Amino acid sequence: MHSGQAIGFFDSGLGGLSVLASAKQQLPYESFIYLGDSANAPYGTKSDSEVLALSQRAVAELVKLGIKALVIACNTATGVAVQPLREQYSFPIIGLEPALKLAANTSQGGAILVMATPLTLKSQKYQQLYDQYGHRAISLPCPGLMDFVEREEFSGSALDSYLQNLFLPFQGTPLAAVVLGCTHYLFLREAITRHLPQGTPMVDSNDGVTRQLIRRLKEENLLAPQGPAGNVRLISTGGLEKAEQLARMFRLAQRLL
Ligand code: DGL
Repeated sequence: MHSGQAIGFFDSGLGGLSVLASAKQQLPYESFIYLGDSANAPYGTKSDSEVLALSQRAVAELVKLGIKALVIACNTATGVAVQPLREQYSFPIIGLEPALKLAANTSQGGAILVMATPLTLKSQKYQQLYDQYGHRAISLPCPGLMDFVEREEFSGSALDSYLQNLFLPFQGTPLAAVVLGCTHYLFLREAITRHLPQGTPMVDSNDGVTRQLIRRLKEENLLAPQGPAGNVRLISTGGLEKAEQLARMFRLAQRLL
């Protein structure tokens, strides 16, 4: 492991590009390899053991390419795989969890809606977070929502009716914040906003993850030295079409920052 190597990222598909865009912006000298496991998406409606096996396979691929650190750019995979992966590998591994702690500490009164995949919300890791910070939280599983992002369907009647049904039970509930607890949902921020009372804050984990990545790289003396800008390599398990989509969506993620 040395500072000249790339930082590996993976997600079930396109969602983690939102995390990558934030890391790339703050770490211009680093190189990144991103693996989107689109052939096996979605993760959020699979079982623990399936997602663990898929995560291990994705990380083994990245390790073959040579990485000095790993960001699991997926709340769902983090929930089941962060611990086993840390036991398996010695490089820094940064995971993602719904930003409930941030929402609880920065908002007042009202409920906090935590939007995430069913598997994230069932995980022991989320349960621990909920026990500590969840006194105002309502966990809101969103099966199928990530598929809109994979299809690049950021608006339209199907998405609107999904969101309308999702938020229907909370009409009249004072909301303090909404947590975007799946990296895909950041691409739907605009559509989600339209279905929430005006001014409802939306919270995500991206800044926190990048801060933690920087801290861990410094601790291990692995920060890339200043010099020419690093490069970004995007890999998809879903074939050429998905690989092209990754490049397109990465540009969009950078614009959305
Ligand atoms: N992007 C992922 C997350 O943050 C999961 C989406 C999925 O594969 O279901 O949880």
